[in-house]
Amino acid sequence: MSVSPQIVAADPRLTVFVTANAGSGKTTTLVNRVARLLLDQVDPGAILCVTYTKAAAAEMQARLFDQLGGWAVLDDAALSRELARLDDGDPQAMDHAALSRARKLFARALETPGGLKIQTIHAFCEKLLRRFPLEAGVSPRFTVLEDQAATALSHAAREDLARAAVADPDGPIGQAYSHFAVELDWQRFQALLSMIEARRADLLDYIDRAEAGTAPDPYALTGAEAGRTPEDLEQDFIAWIDPAEWNRMAEAMATGSTNDRKIADAMSVAAPPHAGFAALAGVFCTQAGEPRKSMGTKSAPQGAVGWLLDLQTKFLAAREALRKARIADDTIKVLTLARAHAAFYEAAKAQRGALDFPDLVARAAALLTRSGAAAWVLYKLDGGVDHVLID
Ligand SMILES: Nc1ncnc2c1ncn2[C@@H]1O[C@H](COP(=O)(O)OP(=O)(O)OP(=O)(O)O)[C@@H](O)[C@H]1O
Ligand SMILES: [Mg+2]
Repeated sequence: MSVSPQIVAADPRLTVFVTANAGSGKTTTLVNRVARLLLDQVDPGAILCVTYTKAAAAEMQARLFDQLGGWAVLDDAALSRELARLDDGDPQAMDHAALSRARKLFARALETPGGLKIQTIHAFCEKLLRRFPLEAGVSPRFTVLEDQAATALSHAAREDLARAAVADPDGPIGQAYSHFAVELDWQRFQALLSMIEARRADLLDYIDRAEAGTAPDPYALTGAEAGRTPEDLEQDFIAWIDPAEWNRMAEAMATGSTNDRKIADAMSVAAPPHAGFAALAGVFCTQAGEPRKSMGTKSAPQGAVGWLLDLQTKFLAAREALRKARIADDTIKVLTLARAHAAFYEAAKAQRGALDFPDLVARAAALLTRSGAAAWVLYKLDGGVDHVLID
């Protein structure tokens, strides 16, 4: 029988990455791996177990307690079976010294100060930053914003954003804010702000990359013409139509059949330049917004029908350009709000000398990789941890 993958993955000599379904035994594998490290007489202080949530850290700790605590009270035969199960070994082969060591592991690993560390990624990062605040560029007295406090601060930044919009209604923030406040109902506007908060890191990252030219900007993404707003496009198209010619064509269409007269009526409703771009859809499209299949019957003057057909093509192209421009414009407005909101949130954190969970991870990652002090920090940490297990 081949050895189960769970046993292979718990072999401390291998570096292993496991993906498996929920409840399929990942944490069990990690706990077994720790047990095998300890049985191999690895210094408990050299083992670091990292989880994402506090609950997961507590769970892992409890399972290890159970396992090692259980061993302390098992008789020789039962303990031999337990230990053999860990690496698919032979229960008969366990010697007395190994059994005796196993019984003492609980006390040694979990009760010695500086022993086995099981902590969340955030707790680990916080400890690292507290040890190297200067190198990490954080205040030595920084506080940590738990998720709830961070959310409260982030919500408060919405009010700063609203105040900034009111203070400068014609500025980029004011315009973006009032645009969505008008376009969206209250609930959807709040949902937009929630999205901006939840995706803060991603949005800021995109803004940086788009500005640095390493990511396509919103115009490139949508295929819109850079710098031309939807309002520009609408006005340009309307201004391009000759009102006198439009009226002449409308009069010509009115001499045709019932259907032609409907088009003529729509034309007088949509007469440029006053009616605006949206009204043109009534001329060139059906009620459902689809392009009309015909712009006139045989009864209408064919010059007028041809003129309208030509204009319909141009209108549809303009409408498509407008659609892209609106998406680009909305995107830019969302990014404007996201950047401003993030700045208010950052300022609120800075004022309190606080770091949130993402800050802890980002600052720790920068400390270990990018900062000039990385080599020094890694040197100081070295000899501290030999085995990292991440659940
Ligand atoms: N090889 C196994 N044979 C029988 N039961 C097992 C085995 N491995 C794990 N279990 C049991 O299955 C249950 C789920 O295991 P575990 O919690 O390790 O899974 P997980 O992959 O970490 O789950 P989650 O995705 O929820 O974190 C536990 O009760 C555990 O004792
Ligand atoms: Mg698990």
